[in-house]
Amino acid sequence: MLKLSGVGVTAEGENGSVRILRDISLTLENKKIYVMTGPNGGGKSSLAKAIMGIYQTTEGNITLDGTDITDLSITERAQLGIGYAFQSPARFKGLKVKDFMKLAAGKSSKVDHCSLLYDVGLCAQDYVNREINASMSGGELKRIEIASILARSLKVALFDEPEAGIDLWSFQRLTDTFRALNEKSDATIIIISHQERILRLADEVILVSNGTVSEITTQEKFLGTLSDDESACRCRVACIREDAVDAGCNR
Ligand SMILES: Nc1ncnc2c1ncn2[C@@H]1O[C@H](COP(=O)(O)OP(=O)(O)OP(=O)(O)O)[C@@H](O)[C@H]1O
Ligand SMILES: [Mg+2]
Repeated sequence: MLKLSGVGVTAEGENGSVRILRDISLTLENKKIYVMTGPNGGGKSSLAKAIMGIYQTTEGNITLDGTDITDLSITERAQLGIGYAFQSPARFKGLKVKDFMKLAAGKSSKVDHCSLLYDVGLCAQDYVNREINASMSGGELKRIEIASILARSLKVALFDEPEAGIDLWSFQRLTDTFRALNEKSDATIIIISHQERILRLADEVILVSNGTVSEITTQEKFLGTLSDDESACRCRVACIREDAVDAGCNR
């Protein structure tokens, strides 16, 4: 179980310090899928980075299965079983795909990299011996990075907008892969996403805005609110067209 209590992050920028995250308290259980969503710039990636240790927490604390990890480095947290697939994966790694996967898998060395590449929608034989470099497309890199996270046996798996740059066919495969990961492992899965298909995987939806958690809700309630907004929007359009009554809108 991952627990955040009153977590805040203040970063030092060129124009002085900026408070990126504030007062975040969350209890995230094993074997559950949490989907974090919210407006651009709301703080989702920063929260993922605070969990991974890329951003140092300046307030509050984080525990994993009761162990305080607040002051641990990225490497130490990775060793404890936290993994993060970046929103924009790094380029120029210069490793062959299969070596990168082996390195990522670490002690879980019996990794079947062919199946993992297939799970993220890549034809394994075209990729295993390819070098990870600037010739790879954004979507290819993104999928290889997601596969490298899937290769590890993790306690907390964080995926930052896994759908970004991924084609519709591979996206379908990817949602099935997240569901399968949830079935076969006890990991706490946290997916940052704006996609309804991913939101439908969620046991809980965490809304992050203005640097904090503004709501924790169910996918049914969250998607219901979205459709309310849609109908409000339809009503507004109808109202502008002065046929609000015909549209069944009283607002
Ligand atoms: N190292 C940093 N220094 C200064 N400001 C930062 C830093 N990292 C993030 N921010 C700011 O914190 C805010 C939240 O950024 P973050 O990347 O977490 O948003 P996000 O919710 O992931 O957005 P998106 O949906 O666009 O990916 C933004 O205003 C961003 O500019
Ligand atoms: Mg982000």
